[in-house]
Amino acid sequence: MTVSARKRILVTGGAGYIGSNTTLQLLDAGYDVVVVDNLSRGHREAVDPARLRVVNLLDTEGLVRVMSEAPVDAVIHFAAYIAVGESMKVPELYFHNNVAGSLSLFTAMIRTGIKKLVFSSTAAVYGMPERVPILETEPYAPVNAYGESKVMVEKMLQWFDQIHGLRSICLRYFNAAGADPAGRVGESHEPETHLIPLLFRAVRTGVPVTLFGDDYATPDGTCIRDYVHVTDLASAHILAVEALSAGRPSAGYNAGTGRGFSVKEVLQAVEEVVGCAVPHSIGPRREGDPPLLVANSDRLQQDLAWVPRYSDITTIVKTGWAWELRKN
Ligand SMILES: NC(=O)c1ccc[n+]([C@@H]2O[C@H](COP(=O)([O-])OP(=O)(O)OC[C@H]3O[C@@H](n4cnc5c(N)ncnc54)[C@H](O)[C@@H]3O)[C@@H](O)[C@H]2O)c1
Repeated sequence: MTVSARKRILVTGGAGYIGSNTTLQLLDAGYDVVVVDNLSRGHREAVDPARLRVVNLLDTEGLVRVMSEAPVDAVIHFAAYIAVGESMKVPELYFHNNVAGSLSLFTAMIRTGIKKLVFSSTAAVYGMPERVPILETEPYAPVNAYGESKVMVEKMLQWFDQIHGLRSICLRYFNAAGADPAGRVGESHEPETHLIPLLFRAVRTGVPVTLFGDDYATPDGTCIRDYVHVTDLASAHILAVEALSAGRPSAGYNAGTGRGFSVKEVLQAVEEVVGCAVPHSIGPRREGDPPLLVANSDRLQQDLAWVPRYSDITTIVKTGWAWELRKN
């Protein structure tokens, strides 16, 4: 992918995991990038300092100033709080940061005339779906405040399109995993709630990781999830920006692989890559965990010509482990 005119993309949350990976891929593809992040959960060192603007999404005037520095072609909006468990303890934090923060961003976009947006949505908008693999036609049915905050933003976007002509593509990611194959950036959440980095941590520290439940109605009793490599997610965002530039109407797409892996299968894949056993114990189920979440992403593949290239479990684990060793 190359860009003839050097289009400027504003990336919110670009100091975070998926945002920093996407920023690098945008730069590799020839885009100009400016990152807005308040560093509340991100990492300063993940962004070129010349591109970073430390601004809170809730600061509409601050966003307008960044958008006025140079013409922005499109916004990719990653910035949000992402911990499901935390959202069920302090939902106000999630509605404030994720919903009011997004509203502030869209307000700034309208004021500066930016009409294209790619939004980080999530499989959590579907809750406990009855039909798996999940299609985009599955109704919104979130079972936690985090998922509800994403539904609210998706719905706001429908009104902003109808009323202001702000077109958007919502990418509903399943489980983002892995790290930049060139080793530049990777996953570093604090607290970490994602399975693969928790397995790596157990290997490094020797402190057993707790796996939540092995009595689900799945072949080995553990939950099954659809892992998609962060580099493939990044390329989906670039394709989404290109599709909006070509005039594609607003849409929501699932971003997954259609292949699920159980917790035990992921554990085994990690053990094969790191070459030793992962210390772990089996705990009780975590409330609100659906047994099976797998995407049907045919629509993303057909409409945007998205081809996941790195999302096999071995590449995911190998790139993630290389990053884990580098980071520590
Ligand atoms: N990681 C996953 O598996 C996954 C799955 C589905 C959806 N998502 C979505 O993808 C997006 C990125 O996820 P991630 O894993 O990279 O998260 P992350 O926590 O690594 O990155 C989020 C970034 O947003 C910034 N941020 C948060 N609130 C902000 C605010 N008010 N103003 C400015 N910056 C703010 C943080 O500092 C951080 O750098 C999120 O919107 C998340 O909901 C992630």
